[in-house]
This record gives sequence, structure tokens and C-alpha cells, in this order.
Amino acid sequence: AEDGYDLWLRYRPVEGVRADAYRMRVSRLVAGDAMPTQAVTRAELLRGLGGLLGAAPPLSEAAADGAVVVGTPMSSPSIARLGLELGDLGRDGYLIRSVTLDGHAATVIAANEDIGALYGAFHFLRLLQTGQSIERLDVREAPRVKLRVLNHWDNLDGHVERGYAGASIWDWHKLPDWRAPRYADYARANASIGINGTVLNNVNADALVLTPMYLEKAAALADVFRPYGIRVYLSARFSAPIEIGGLETADPLDPQVQRWWRDKAEEIYRTIPDFGGFLVKANSEGQPGPQDYGRSHADGANLLADALAPHGGTVMWRAFVYSDEEPDDRAKQAYSEFVPLDGEFRDNVMVQVKNGAIDFQPREPFHPLFGAMPDTPLMMEFQITKEYLGFATHLVYLGPMWEEVLRADTHARGEGSTVAKVIDGSLHDHRLTGMAGVANIGSDRNWSGSHFDQANWYAYGRLAWDPELSSRSIAEQWVRMTFSGDDSFVATVVDMMMGSREAAVDYMTPLGLHHLMGSNHHYGPGPWLGGGPRTDWTSVYYHRATRAGIGFDRTASGSNAVAQYAPPVAREFGDLETVPEEFLLWFHHVPWDYRTQSGRPLWDELVHRYTRGVDYVRGMRETWRGLAGDVDPERHAQVAAFLAIQEKEAQRWRDASIAYFQGISGLPLPEGYAPPP
Ligand code: GCU
Repeated sequence: AEDGYDLWLRYRPVEGVRADAYRMRVSRLVAGDAMPTQAVTRAELLRGLGGLLGAAPPLSEAAADGAVVVGTPMSSPSIARLGLELGDLGRDGYLIRSVTLDGHAATVIAANEDIGALYGAFHFLRLLQTGQSIERLDVREAPRVKLRVLNHWDNLDGHVERGYAGASIWDWHKLPDWRAPRYADYARANASIGINGTVLNNVNADALVLTPMYLEKAAALADVFRPYGIRVYLSARFSAPIEIGGLETADPLDPQVQRWWRDKAEEIYRTIPDFGGFLVKANSEGQPGPQDYGRSHADGANLLADALAPHGGTVMWRAFVYSDEEPDDRAKQAYSEFVPLDGEFRDNVMVQVKNGAIDFQPREPFHPLFGAMPDTPLMMEFQITKEYLGFATHLVYLGPMWEEVLRADTHARGEGSTVAKVIDGSLHDHRLTGMAGVANIGSDRNWSGSHFDQANWYAYGRLAWDPELSSRSIAEQWVRMTFSGDDSFVATVVDMMMGSREAAVDYMTPLGLHHLMGSNHHYGPGPWLGGGPRTDWTSVYYHRATRAGIGFDRTASGSNAVAQYAPPVAREFGDLETVPEEFLLWFHHVPWDYRTQSGRPLWDELVHRYTRGVDYVRGMRETWRGLAGDVDPERHAQVAAFLAIQEKEAQRWRDASIAYFQGISGLPLPEGYAPPP
């Protein structure tokens, strides 16, 4: 049955003339298995080519016409003899080339290191999976970002914070002795898109994960992942020296605390020799941190960095800081706390910044920290799990959202200073670079809670490898590998996916509105909700609607958050004449009859957009219904059922939001809008 377990690695048979052409070029496989990474590379090629071509090519030692030769100059004498230029490919890069080898037409997949050859093997398989020619290949690829990491918000009791795909896939209870086969499939899927790190536990961390019992379990996972080039990281609770170390303080300047972390790091590296490092959420949403002792984020990060440095580990220190006190504007806090610390972090610290300054909203302007800390490597944090975008049932492809952020221009060093260039280190010349994605993976058979949410995992990995890829081309690859290579099917589904995020913005938070979700669950609409533990979660905090108007004034007459951007950006966003309409109410408070670009007054435009979002979902349902013959019935039925849920809920978002805002504005409903019965 098609249950989605295979993700984009389905390897179903290629048919027709294309299959014959592939078989000509794949007559045998020359690949070693002396090292673990070589062994998994060979196994993947045998599995993939076997599935795609109907039979795995025979293994061979010598070149022949149609040989596929995989390896490094070290592992493969044939590759060494070719004298290929591999210098600039680094550790993870590879080349795939059609060559003449000992007089035979062959294909080489070559790299400096075994892991590069594994990435190359997945790329080669992808060419076949997506129906490309493999005749005259000359591919050179190296990742633009060094650390490409998943963040699991998984608790030790199996619950996944903001997880919508079942329980955690880590079976802590049965680890380390039982290594579920699924762990290797997880590693295969991640390696296929270049992910090379995984933080196993929630940022709201339990210190217990740093105790010997859990380190043994984490080490077992690291053993499974190692051949696939994936390192294990852990979220560290800042107060761990107190909770599991018996100390009275976690003050970063206390010598005993420093010794405790040094010893802890040594212990970890004895258990997991290639441990990646720590991810830390500190002094945010009630988590402990250095500020509890009057110290800075830099003091805290450097404490852990010094402990990890002798072993080559990295600290990923999060800039998502929300204090409990009522802020004049939550959007400003990270910049205010971190910019003054630029240059004070150790070399093995990265500051991990969410894409926007509020919290993974359907649309946010890029975070003002990007470009504003030239002396600190900044890591991107995207959220793959759709906490604010309808969980697993709403079909929302996130590629366009991430692309929008990565291509945004910070103007930090003049025009063209895109967020992508901050992240890949080229803007400020950093060699330590990284991207994190909050995973949407759980124990559901299909891993992500829905078939289409697999695309978000896939897109994240591809963008972490190359932040300048287009989200459309990524979607196209994914559809071909996941569903079908039929060109018209692909075009239809890709179009549907590409508009899906804008549709969610429309029915949830149009025109720059944000954080109108029900507090705590963040699923349905709740612009009226106060409550929740935090004082900023009052009914009007984010949208500031009154009888006179709506929107959060972040210009000089309001919170002036806009001043955190580089001057050209601040001018653009801060001026009603130039602010992109999608950010209108993010930066400005305007009257209900404000004239929008369509000519409609704001109130009418809001209603128009809510309705447009619902209509788009209705359209997706129809489109999908029309594809019933092109998708296996199992997956077709589930997607169809989820789209029906999405339509119902999009309508609820629209009607509830309009009713609520109408109660404030007192305006009549625009003509043509039919209120719910
Ligand atoms: C959001 C999310 C929390 C999470 C937090 C974070 O606020 O709702 O569940 O802990 O982000 O990123 O730390």
C-alpha cells in the first residue's frame, strides 16, 4: 500500500524508452564498501537503481561500457587515475561526469570524502527519479552552508512540542539496545537532501538528556546516523549544573560551573566522539539562562563554547528571546539584546535566529538581526512543522515563504545584501555557517502527518544546501519523485502548491496581520482571545484594532521597531507610500477606509483577501479531485480528506475574523460577502 513511508525515495520503476536509455548507461556498478559510508552508498545505489530499472546493476571491479563508478581518489583507483579536479568541492561536494574510462563510456560520481560520494549518489538517483538525461553529465555541487540541521522539539516522554505527526520517533525507552530500522531510514532521507546534523531534544530542554543514561541512548542513534554523515546535537538546559550536577548555581562566570561543563563535555565526547554540540534556548519564555545571574547571552554561550572547543563542538545559541514582562513591542527584543553583543561570542558560537522577529507567522518581514551582527555568524531557524499554518491537515507548501525571506535584501552592505548571503557567510566572510529547521517528523507512517508536508522537509533540506534555489524547482523535483513524472500532473500540482502559502496568509493573517491564532494551540483563529500566561497575549496587542483603525504602528510614532532595519529598508517599511502591502498592518496603523492598492478601502480589502484564501482552498480541492486517476487511491483519499478539512477551517478563519473585526469597526459588510448562515 502507498502509505508514504518511502517519502521521496520511492524508486518505482521507470517506464518506456527512458528506462532503456538509463539501462544502457547503468550496466554495472563499481563501488566499494570498505568503510561504513561507502557501504551505505553502495546499498542505496543498488536499492535505488534496482527499483528504478527493475533490477540492480551487477557489481563489478572493472570499468565497462555503462559502468557507474563511485568513490574518492582514496577509495577508487579508477577515480584516482582520472585525475579529476576535486579541490574546490570540500568535504561534502561531489561531481558527476560522463567520462571515458579505460576506453569505456562510464559515469563517475567522485568526491574528496566518502560523504561527498554519498551525496553524489543521491543526486544521481534523483536524475533518474525526475526523468533527466544521464547522457552527457557534468555536475559539480558543493553545499553553500556548513551545518544543515534539524531541530527536534521532542521531549523525553515521547511528546513532540508543536508536533503534528504522532509521537517522537526516538524510542528512548528501548534505546540504546533496540535500534529501530526506522532510524536508518530517517538518516537516508536526511542524507538524500544533505542534512548533516540533528538536535534530538526540545529546546525547552530537560537536563536529564545530559545524564549518562540518555547519553548512551543518544550515542546509539549517533552510531546509526554516522555513516550517513549526520551528527547528533543536544539541547542543553542552562541550569543543568544545578539540576543534575548538584551545584548551587549555574552562573557562567563561576569556576565550578565552568568545570562542570568542561567535564560534561569530556564525558559526552567519550560517549559520542563526533558529537556536534549544544543548542540553547536561554532566558526566553521562562527558560533559565545567564541573565538570571546578571550575565549576558555572550557569557552564557561562551561558557558552553569553551567546554566544547577542545573537542570541535559548536554552540547554537538562540536569539528567540521573549521575556515575561509586558514589552512595548516583542518584535524588538532580540535585536536589542543581541546587537550590543556582536563580536563578543567565541569562534565556535553561532546565533540562531528565526526568520522573523515574532514567531513563525504565515508571513513576517525578515528578522532585523540579519545583517546587523557582522562579527557573529548567524544561523537561520526555519520551522518546518506548521505551528501557525494549519498543522498537518492544511496543505501549505512553505518553499515560497522561505525563498521570500532568503531573497529579502537587508542592505547591510549595500544593495544585494540578501539574507541568503548572511546565512551562507559570504556577506560578512564567515566560514562557520548554518541553517536549522524545526522538524515536522513523528511516528506517523508518512513521517510528517500528511503527504504534502513531506515536501516541506524536502524543501528545507534543499534550501539548507543551497539557499538560492527556487522553491518552484524544488517542488517540481519533489512531485516527480513523490507522485508521478507525468508533465501535466506535475505542472498542476506544482501550481497548486506554489499558491498555497499565500492562500493561508489570506485566510489567516492578510495584509501584515499576525499572531491572531488561538493562544496556546495556535491552530484556529483567536483574535479576540486574551488570556494565556503572557501579558502580551491580550486581544488587541498584535492587531491594535479600534473603531478608528487597525495595525501595529512600528514607525517612529509607534514602537519604532522599523528603525532596527538598515536605513533603506527602514525607510521602505516605515513609509506608507512604499511599504509592501503584505506588510502594511505589520508596520502601520491605518484607518478602516485607508485606500489600498486595489482601490478598495482597507476593510473591504481585508474581507476580499479572507475570501480569496478560502476560494483558493476550494480550488485546490477541485484540482485534486480531478487528479484522482493519477495518484494511488490511498494517498489520493487522504489528501482529499485533508483538503476538505482545510476548506472548512479556512472558512471558519474568514468568518470568525470578519465577524470579530466587524464588531470593532462597526462597518457594514462589503457588498457580495455572504456571512455564514
Ligand atoms: C514558539 C512555540 C513554542 C516554542 C517557542 C520556541 O513560541 O509556540 O512551543 O517553545 O516558539 O521557539 O522556543
